[in-house]
Amino acid sequence: MLAPGTFDGKTVLITGGGSGLGLSMAEGLLRLGAKVCLMSRSEDKLQAASEKLVSQTGGSVFTFSADVRDAAKVEEGIRYFIECAGGLHAVVNNAAGNFISPTERLSANAFSSIIDTVLKGSIHTTLAAGKYWIEKKQPGVFLNIATTYASTGSAFVVPSATAKAGLIALTRSLAVEWGEYGIRSNAIAPGPFPTEGAWSRLFPKEALPPALADKMDFASRIPIGRVGNHEELVNLVTFLLSDFSAYINGELVTIDGGEWLQGAGEFNWLKAVPHQMWDAIEKATRKGA
Ligand code: HXC
Repeated sequence: MLAPGTFDGKTVLITGGGSGLGLSMAEGLLRLGAKVCLMSRSEDKLQAASEKLVSQTGGSVFTFSADVRDAAKVEEGIRYFIECAGGLHAVVNNAAGNFISPTERLSANAFSSIIDTVLKGSIHTTLAAGKYWIEKKQPGVFLNIATTYASTGSAFVVPSATAKAGLIALTRSLAVEWGEYGIRSNAIAPGPFPTEGAWSRLFPKEALPPALADKMDFASRIPIGRVGNHEELVNLVTFLLSDFSAYINGELVTIDGGEWLQGAGEFNWLKAVPHQMWDAIEKATRKGA
């Protein structure tokens, strides 16, 4: 969507960038001229991602293996990236953890593993990068990957919903507090964009009886009638990281084909009514009481 060279001279850190949506974002940014820094737990994943990205784009990729739950390691990684890449201009807080479970089955540690990754992990990168930008009197951009159910809440993914809601509060708070330093903070709320990591944990179709598996039919759940594709997400991400969105600060942009609104509207269930039935319904309802 953006012109080649949009990110020339810019370095972007993507947490959890070794796979899934983070990897797609990395590819999109590299194609637009950015240097990309990937931070993720698995050295093997980082190695494979880096080789793939360099061969696909010919761009500069730096990697640092760290669990975002470890604040000291995250700080070390950010220092390393700044030294190798010669600076840092934007951070995408994308690393996440999630699984479906009735909340009463969860241990305190299960909650912690999600909150510490999603919320505290983002806080760790935000503190390290934000302090660096403020000290250097340099502008910066944060883009936090939330979800639609961070605003509504959602049963069966309560640790994730809680953590992502905190991430939105972090985004809006720092948009105001750090705006004066030229640091923008925005978030996006993606709906379903298939990735192996999320799908295996959240939509285990094959483990369910057919009647339940049918509930995962995205074509009927989403007004646009399909899941999202990575390129659509990457277009939004690159726009919000670029100077073309320089006046957007503290915003949460939903990208879900209308899915969450379909679940929210009082009368949305009427979509199930066949078109030819509306004449009869109108006749009945026009009479009133
Ligand atoms: C109940 C579970 C569980 C499950 C783990 N735990 N899986 N409890 N049901 N399915 C519990 C464990 O028993 C343990 O508690 C605690 O959680 C930590 O588990 P570990 O496996 O030791 O943790 P760890 O190795 O850190 O793994 C983290 C993880 C894992 C989150 C559990 O799934 C992971 O690494 N995920 C990363 C990728 C991911 O989740 N991607 C999807 C993100 S998608 P005890 O008490 O036993 O020690 C997303 C947005 C979705 O977030 C939007 C969709 C539209």
